[in-house]
Amino acid sequence: THQWRGIIEEYRDRLPVTDTTPVVTLREGGTPLVPAQVLSERTGCEVHLKVEGANPTGSFKDRGMTMAITRAKEEGAQAVICASTGNTSASAAAYAVRAGMVCAVLVPQGKIALGKMGQALVYGSRILQVDGNFDDCLNLARSLSENYPVALVNSVNPYRIEGQKTASFEIVDALGDAPDIHVLPVGNAGNITAYWKGYTEYAADGMSGRKPRMWGFQASGSAPIVRGEVVKDPSTIATAIRIGNPASWTQALAAREESGGFIDEVTDREILRAYRLLASQEGVFVEPASAASVAGLLKAAEQGKVDPGQRIVCTVTGNGLKDPDWAVAGAPQPVTVPVDADAAAERLGLA
Ligand code: F0G
Repeated sequence: THQWRGIIEEYRDRLPVTDTTPVVTLREGGTPLVPAQVLSERTGCEVHLKVEGANPTGSFKDRGMTMAITRAKEEGAQAVICASTGNTSASAAAYAVRAGMVCAVLVPQGKIALGKMGQALVYGSRILQVDGNFDDCLNLARSLSENYPVALVNSVNPYRIEGQKTASFEIVDALGDAPDIHVLPVGNAGNITAYWKGYTEYAADGMSGRKPRMWGFQASGSAPIVRGEVVKDPSTIATAIRIGNPASWTQALAAREESGGFIDEVTDREILRAYRLLASQEGVFVEPASAASVAGLLKAAEQGKVDPGQRIVCTVTGNGLKDPDWAVAGAPQPVTVPVDADAAAERLGLA
C-alpha cells in the first residue's frame, strides 16, 4: 500500500534538496482536486477546486513550510520567525515542532481568526500581537531576522515559493495537462507567484503542453495591486488577505503579464456569497479568503469574461474551521427539543 509521502519526497528532483537534507514533513500536499458541479453549470465550463484546506494544518502554507523549515534545519537554524494573518503562523509553528525549533510569531492584534490563534498557541509558538496590520508585522519580522539569530519563513523566503509551486505539479499530474485558467485569492502574492513558477517549470520540461492564464482576486478593501498603490489601512472580513503592501507584488504582475491573465477585486459581500455557495452547493467548507477565488470566477462569468467549455481550477486555500464565526453569523439558532421522537420528527419536517 502506498501513502503520500509529502511534497519533498514526491517531487524531490524538482526541489532544492540533496540526499542528506533532513526533511521536515507532516506529509503535506496530495490534496483533493474536486470537480465542482454547480460552478461548472453556472459558468458552462469544467471547474475544479484544489482543496488546500486538506493540508495538515488546514492551509496551503504547509507546502511552503515543509521546504522552508527543512532548509532552515539543514542550515543549522534554531529559531524561526514569521509575520502572519494566521495561516503562515499555524504552519510555521507546527513544522518548528517537528524540527525541534523555537517559533516566533507576529500577528496583527485582533485581526486573526480564532482557529488560527488556537493553532499558534497549542503548537507552543512564542506569539506576539502587534498593534498594527500585517504589513507592519512583516517589517518587524524582517528587521528581527536581520538583527537576531532567527530565520524568516515568510514567503519572501525563496524556499517557501519552491514548496508551494508543487500544487501546480499535482494539478497537471491529475488532469493530464494544465488547465486553461487558474484562479487564486491574492494577499501577500506569494502563492500566485509559486503557482506560476510551477506551471512554467512543468511546461518547460514537457510535463504539460500549455500554461494557464492566471486570474488573481484581492478583497476590495485590500486591493493594492488592482489600485496600483499601497493601501495604508486595509480592511476586509477575509482577514487572511487583509494586506496593503504585498511582498511579491512585482512577481504577481509578472505572472499576470506572462500568462495573459488579470488581477481584479471582489467585495466582502461577493466573498461571503461564494463562501456560502461552496459549502451549501458543493459541500466544500473553506475560510472566507479562500472563497475570493470562486467569487472572482463568478464575477468574471457575470461580466462575460468566461468563454464556455474551458477547464478552470480554483484554489481554495484554507479550511472553513479556521474561522467558524462566519458560518454561524446570520444563521438561525438550532431549535432545542425534548428527548421525544414525535417532537423531533415534527421539528425536522418529517411528520
Ligand atoms: N488564502 C489564505 C487562506 C491565506 O492565508 C492567504 C495568505 C492567502 C489566501 C493569500 O496568499 O499571501 O500567498 O497571496 N495568508 C498569509 C498568512 C498572509 O500570513 O497566513 P498569498
